[in-house]
Amino acid sequence: MTFEIKERNAAGRLCKFTTKHGVVTTPNLLPVINPNKMMIPPKEMKKRFNSEILITNSYIIYKDATLRKQALEQGVHKLIDFSGSIMTDSGTFQSYIYGDIKLDPLEIVRFQRNIGSDIGTILDIFGTPDQTKEEAEQGIKETIARAKKSVPEKGEMLLACPVQGSVYPDLREHCAQQLSLLDANFFPIGGVVPLMENQRYPDLVRCILAAKRGLDPSKPVHLFGAGHPLIFSLAVALGCDFFDSSAYAKYANDGRMIFQWGTEKFDDLTELPCCCPVCSKYTTLELRELDAKERTLQLALHNLHVSFAEIKTIRTAIVGGWLWELVEQRASANPFLNDALRVLREPEHLHWLEHYEPTSKKTALFYTGPQTIHRPTIYRYHTQLFTRYKPLLKTTVVFPEGTKPYSTFYSREIRHILKKKNVNFVVDSYLGPVPFELDEMYPLAQSVFPNEIDRETREKAQQVTDRFLKNKTVIRWDKRTTIKKEKSLKQNINLDIRRISAVADMQFGRGASKALLNGEITIIKSKRTGKIRNIFCGGSHVMSMRAKDGLFTLKLDGGQRLHRGLKYPLLRVVVTNDAVPFVKEGKSVFVKFVTDCDPNIRPYDECLIVNEKDTLLAVGRTLLNREEMLAFRHGMAVKTRESIK
Ligand code: GUN
Ligand code: ZN
Repeated sequence: MTFEIKERNAAGRLCKFTTKHGVVTTPNLLPVINPNKMMIPPKEMKKRFNSEILITNSYIIYKDATLRKQALEQGVHKLIDFSGSIMTDSGTFQSYIYGDIKLDPLEIVRFQRNIGSDIGTILDIFGTPDQTKEEAEQGIKETIARAKKSVPEKGEMLLACPVQGSVYPDLREHCAQQLSLLDANFFPIGGVVPLMENQRYPDLVRCILAAKRGLDPSKPVHLFGAGHPLIFSLAVALGCDFFDSSAYAKYANDGRMIFQWGTEKFDDLTELPCCCPVCSKYTTLELRELDAKERTLQLALHNLHVSFAEIKTIRTAIVGGWLWELVEQRASANPFLNDALRVLREPEHLHWLEHYEPTSKKTALFYTGPQTIHRPTIYRYHTQLFTRYKPLLKTTVVFPEGTKPYSTFYSREIRHILKKKNVNFVVDSYLGPVPFELDEMYPLAQSVFPNEIDRETREKAQQVTDRFLKNKTVIRWDKRTTIKKEKSLKQNINLDIRRISAVADMQFGRGASKALLNGEITIIKSKRTGKIRNIFCGGSHVMSMRAKDGLFTLKLDGGQRLHRGLKYPLLRVVVTNDAVPFVKEGKSVFVKFVTDCDPNIRPYDECLIVNEKDTLLAVGRTLLNREEMLAFRHGMAVKTRESIK
């Protein structure tokens, strides 16, 4: 099996997952196939939806003599006539629905292996939300014990070990940690169906976050029994890779149609608000005239079209960098999902999410409502402002929100004030305080907020601004403000140098500007836009400022300066000696060569690639954070930009 990250956004990832039956792109949806009654045959699934993977139930096959014989003789792929990847479940869910079933936990694992399942599931204990903590604890103990005993039986099959623990985050995290220690390959989050049925999305979010916290980040995560597309985007943003849907068939049998915003009864619809092939072909009247079985089939097809469309939307959002925007939009369709999103504001969750949040994105941050200010990117900005940014001067002039970039909008005022007094300039923005030096840096310039802001956002931003300006001499600027001329006004500090120093410290950490800029500085600006492009120091090119996000890309010389100026492990990605010749040729660093990494490195950060003796080899840009670099076995860790020959 291989599993590697290709693209990412929020804590979500777009990966390539390989089984013996092919490559699967994640996030993905596994349609549930009932081997007894295949409403839509797997071959059709492949043809219509390009399904790369599906899930069926080994217990149903096992307890039916005919199916069982056929599966053992020909394999599960022949049995259901599907050439892609097949995951099998174990009977846990049946035992939850119908009460105890007689089944040996190891027997069902061996059976899944013997019928050639690509991913088999252990017989875990379904932990229901109404369990006491003691019951839940007993449950995960048994699940972990069964997982341990199942691993040696898996053979070439990939083994899925569900994370249980009812609604107790500490039990979920513990279960996830214990399972991650085993040689298992796939981690569903189990026991969540009752939460989803009752729209207990805040609890669901807590379960996902607790499990993810304990899980090996390099393994695929499946949200067991999640079939409604409403929650897909949020689950993906928290790091889920797979969903399975029996909902498409169940809802269709019940005459219900799935939509992106929820579910509608077909009988209530006068029109079909959808343009999938089914809804394009039929009017409601025509659908009503079909015989019952055919109508159910058409509704099921529609349900799958809508579900896969949401998966594709999510993948597009990951690549485009607007997954949080999508999540917030979807949450606005459902009050309980709205509540779930609020859970993410809690400091421990923000802290975890920030670890996985890319440093920069292709697209601007779009405000969708009061949740936007609580995004991990903004949380990071606020945190770094207090830990990495240092105001230069005693007095701060505070401007009200204006047009971006603020230093252009307020350029006349700035020039006027600097003739009289050396001060800091800060904009009291909807995102919190923005020192003018940082106003072109992601996400400050690359964010779009409405002209009229909601009260909650305003209060949050105000809180941060007040904390930032506390104990400082502050002049709140308006048209009537007059500044007294200082008697001994020293020469103004170069504004461009203030900008590059401040951005360097924010991006690389305190002390970075000192390391990077010790020498005579020459700044090259774009002739067309007037913006800073290249920075030379002591005659050599140390870094460039990207127009897109106002952050620096490191040149080799800049890397050397940071390497000298910042102590190990700051900004480092350490590679084994085996990798050194490749890095020197400018090849990218694959995760299997990484032995260590600065814990403060985030996805898409600039970094220093060093050998095990901390000798600088190259500069590059990361794709992964430390936890991922140390856990993944396949894929790229750092894209090398420039190497020492
Ligand atoms: N299907 C839905 N939920 C579960 C679960 O918790 N465990 C297993 N094995 N299958 C499920
Ligand atoms: Zn449709």
